Amino acid sequence: MGKPRVFSGIQPTGDIHLGNYLGAIRNWVEGQSNYENFFCVVDLHAITVSHDPKALAADTRKVAALYLACGIDLECASVFVQSHVSAHSELTWLLNCITPLNWLEDMVQFKEKAVKQAENVGTGLLDYPVLMAADILLYNTDKVPVGEDQKQHLELTRDIAARMNYLYGSEENPVLKLPEPMIRAEGARVMSLTDGTRKMSKSDPSELSRINLLDPPETIQQKIKRCKTDSVRGLTFDDSERPECHNLLTLYMILSNQTKESVTQECAEMGWGQFKPLLMETMIAALKPIQDKYQEIMAEPGYLESVLRQGRQNAEAIANPTLARVKAALGYSIPL
Ligand code: AMP
Ligand code: TRP
Repeated sequence: MGKPRVFSGIQPTGDIHLGNYLGAIRNWVEGQSNYENFFCVVDLHAITVSHDPKALAADTRKVAALYLACGIDLECASVFVQSHVSAHSELTWLLNCITPLNWLEDMVQFKEKAVKQAENVGTGLLDYPVLMAADILLYNTDKVPVGEDQKQHLELTRDIAARMNYLYGSEENPVLKLPEPMIRAEGARVMSLTDGTRKMSKSDPSELSRINLLDPPETIQQKIKRCKTDSVRGLTFDDSERPECHNLLTLYMILSNQTKESVTQECAEMGWGQFKPLLMETMIAALKPIQDKYQEIMAEPGYLESVLRQGRQNAEAIANPTLARVKAALGYSIPL
């Protein structure tokens, strides 16, 4: 038996921020040696809301380079681009035809994003979770490390796989494997710096609401200086009246590699004037190695392309046989 397989992905839209890092990439890196990993830059998902064609390729390379800069190890992981493996689009169509429309209409993220798009809601936005299911199911994935916000999409993925198996497979011969979500408690939901009740998001119009992984030290300083706090003295976790305080302490705890107990003690008597510089310094120091590595990767001509080429090969070796299996189960069987 080989190692269990992990699949995950991030969209190349906007800059990768601390929420993406702490909720997703950091967990990929931490467990990677125990798994056979596929990390995808999901550029087909990126066009489900309006996008800039001129920026797509550069943004896609940037996300792939950041995966590597954050410590993804090519000894145990393949890094590739979704649109390079056509099986993703093809399986999406096959899954579309067995997915009840109301399952998609019930997705919270769809409802939220549809409101923001006003009258311009594309069919792709509704279909987004089916494409995500195809991503995962093509690789007979065991585990999917994501942030809390993706839990509903993973449940849907399992429902779609179960429906495919029920309709076109048998108990002894399931067509698709049901994946398990992998969601860590800490960092699973990093909140906005300007509103501790909303999650940090690429689509927030305010740059001040998030820290991007490639933000230079001066920018981090400015953003932390101006981030929302409260007027209570002494800093505490888990006070529902103080969401910003909880979020900032959690960020400090994770980025400084401390336990909740030690941060609780260290910060119990602090005011914001004392805590903010500490958080800034910790954040700048934690991001520096990632930023240095990113510059190195981008400076080496052809390196990233060679990684993505190899990634595509490894991905196709698994995705294409899965697609063939689903097509056979559905009755596509004329040999040529
Ligand atoms: P996206 O930015 O939507 O492409 O998300 C990529 C990954 O980052 C997914 O696994 C998300 O669950 C995770 N993620 C995005 N925003 C946050 C956040 N504020 N806190 C924790 N995880 C997040
Ligand atoms: N929908 C995910 C997000 O916004 C990104 C994604 C696409 C993904 N396909 C995936 C995550 C497959 C995990 C597995 O965060």
